[in-house]
Amino acid sequence: MKRILLLGSGELGKELTISLQRFGCYIIACDKYKNAPAMQVSQECEVFDMLNSNNLKQVIDKHKPDLIVPEIEAIDTESLIQFERNGLKVIPSSRAVSMTMNRDKIRNRAKELGIKTARFGYAETLNGLIEMFHNINDKVAIKPVMSSSGKGQSYASTVSEVKKAWTVALNGMRGKKKKVIIEEYINFDYEITLLTILDSEGKIHFCPPIGHVQERGDYQYSWQPAKCEQNIVNKMKIIARKIVKDLSGKGLFGIEFFVKKNEVYFSELSPRPHDTGMVTMFTQNFSEFDLHARAILDFTIPKIELCKTGVSQVILANKNAQGKFFIKGIQSALQDKNIDIRIFGKPETKPYRRMGVILASNLKKAKEALSKIKVVKAEMN
Ligand SMILES: Nc1ncnc2c1ncn2[C@@H]1O[C@H](COP(=O)(O)OP(=O)(O)O)[C@@H](O)[C@H]1O
Ligand SMILES: [Mg+2]
Repeated sequence: MKRILLLGSGELGKELTISLQRFGCYIIACDKYKNAPAMQVSQECEVFDMLNSNNLKQVIDKHKPDLIVPEIEAIDTESLIQFERNGLKVIPSSRAVSMTMNRDKIRNRAKELGIKTARFGYAETLNGLIEMFHNINDKVAIKPVMSSSGKGQSYASTVSEVKKAWTVALNGMRGKKKKVIIEEYINFDYEITLLTILDSEGKIHFCPPIGHVQERGDYQYSWQPAKCEQNIVNKMKIIARKIVKDLSGKGLFGIEFFVKKNEVYFSELSPRPHDTGMVTMFTQNFSEFDLHARAILDFTIPKIELCKTGVSQVILANKNAQGKFFIKGIQSALQDKNIDIRIFGKPETKPYRRMGVILASNLKKAKEALSKIKVVKAEMN
């Protein structure tokens, strides 16, 4: 039985835990808070700060896992590199995890590989940021180099907006290093996640492209298959092959692209299942979690088939949400017999926190179901 240390225990980790357990794996789910979604289904759990190398070492020494499987970016990747040198397996590889922990390394690598991206630069001071803004000389997106789900991200077209964006970025960043990426704003026609699997023999497999819509830099809904011309899909596949081979290892990667007319821009990459890929639980014969599980256990990747078209729509807490909650309206939403729902089981709400997803055959049905579901503050006794 493989012992797997899962670093990060959110909704994606929960589904991955279930997929891995179906192959008899033993999961130790880790996160910085108790009762995180994956901990509710794992055999064991550990609560600690995964950015702290001593804590990470202690947990690894205690559990002696066969594999370390990161589910989030905020991990002490330097320690992972050390552990890999000492023979521990990191998924997909410690290189892939450390290159994608912050936005800068992977973006620099994409440039070195000759992959097209939005024009970009970095800044560590407000003055430096204003200078970069003048260099780009267009509307820009500004993000902390270390953040996710749109945290600390905003857009700017004037110097006064750049100043505001600097403050937003500092408030939304993770870690201690004040560094932001400033990117040319791409007024794209649509954006895509291409789920790409690198198997243990080095072969590459693709899922049909997923379209998605983001608000506040955060995932709202996604659908599969995205209507994408073949030449665009081919361009994305060429980039995906290049980048996953460079990052190396084995597992599923979520690769994000912007598409504008005939141009494909590489945006970012997760070396693990992607939030927009939750739609595959509804549409594919094997979900992104099943495929990640097979790749990391060195199993053959099955033929990936799209069984039906579908949409995944997030259920968010409201913008003032806080503390304990309950979810109303599931019964009513399920009146439509084609709707499925996954409630993640997070212990508490926060503003805009993702609490679940609705899976439906189309967006209209997903929105109808969403209108029936409410995340309600629990009364204090
Ligand atoms: N340069 C950009 N031009 C246009 N939209 C952008 C740009 N950068 C980010 N976005 C929008 O914000 C979303 C989140 O940005 P992303 O870089 O993927 O951050 P995160 O790591 O938080 O997902 C993107 O999916 C896209 O919708
Ligand atoms: Mg993203």
